[in-house]
Amino acid sequence: MVEVLRLNLSRVVDESYNILIGFGLFDSIPADLKANPVGEKYAIITDSVLKDIYGRRLLEKFSEENIDACLIDFPAGEESKNISTVTHLVRRLLEHRVDRKSAIITLGGGVVGDVGGFTASIYMRGIPYIQVPTTLLAQVDSSIGGKTAVDMEEGKNLIGSFHQPKRVYIDPSLLKTLPRREYLSGLAEVVKYGVIQDRDLFEYLERNVEKIKNLDEEALLHIIRKSCMIKKEIVEEDPLEKNKRSILNYGHTPAHAIERLSCYKCLHGEAVSVGMRISGWIAVKKGFWRIDEWERQNKLLRSLGLPLKMDFNVDDLIEALYYDKKVEGGTLMFVLPKRIGEMFSINGRYKIPIREDEVRSFLLELNGNN
Ligand code: GLY
Repeated sequence: MVEVLRLNLSRVVDESYNILIGFGLFDSIPADLKANPVGEKYAIITDSVLKDIYGRRLLEKFSEENIDACLIDFPAGEESKNISTVTHLVRRLLEHRVDRKSAIITLGGGVVGDVGGFTASIYMRGIPYIQVPTTLLAQVDSSIGGKTAVDMEEGKNLIGSFHQPKRVYIDPSLLKTLPRREYLSGLAEVVKYGVIQDRDLFEYLERNVEKIKNLDEEALLHIIRKSCMIKKEIVEEDPLEKNKRSILNYGHTPAHAIERLSCYKCLHGEAVSVGMRISGWIAVKKGFWRIDEWERQNKLLRSLGLPLKMDFNVDDLIEALYYDKKVEGGTLMFVLPKRIGEMFSINGRYKIPIREDEVRSFLLELNGNN
């Protein structure tokens, strides 16, 4: 005789949040949090470089508003995106008496947002957090949508969670202190949005290359606002990446493999640029995408100062591709364009299986065309 007790747990959750975008927004974050609190106390998590540039300044603004806050940092760089950093952060949060009524503020680029967000998702079984992205890449992509993660030696983002932030504050003026290479690297994600979803954005980028490279305020605001709108709409439709959200990973399957092979010496956006050339080429060879559109994509990436090629051995790259989270049943999966502004799908599914021997021959041909 078996007794069955059913634990009923169907839940409706509202995880909606505001993304605030504005030049000069940064200094008014504590005042806004005073008016619209997320926690009783705030732990600002940042990296060793940003601590002195923006961390102390934000802490000072909290003090001016008489809000309890503390500042915690970890060494800057992709090498810190690991589980040891999470342990370090948890210890510091405990020292600062951060509790379940507190909130974390991640102040930084993709690494800080991902590691800080992941820490927020597990600290005391999860506390709220707020994203304050300081790089273009984080402002247009990683700060929105609640993906948090740390890397393993085997590959990127292999440990992580979905934990939506309670608010995102985007101040494009923070980009003025960003190293040029990092800024340009973030533009790869903006081109990505154009290719996967928005032909108008793609054409805007083509028409405004110089303004964008020179951080023209109007152009910057336009591309950030457009990118955030696209990202938000895709996340609203598919928050847990069951299908549509995977198109945000266009170019990322080869990019993550390239990052791993380069020992994370290249920047994420640079690898995404190379990865879009590779994924786009696979789409061309499969007959899904016109070659002239692939060339147009590559021309735009090049004109924005992004790399299109990196040295790698095809077999090493293929081996590294298998650590991608999109691999299903041992099969490599790619998200591939159909036209600029639209992704290819089969029966409504965007992740397309491609056989390893096809990937190998396409990559060898592409390398031969260098
Ligand atoms: N950066 C891809 C995503 O958030 O889904």
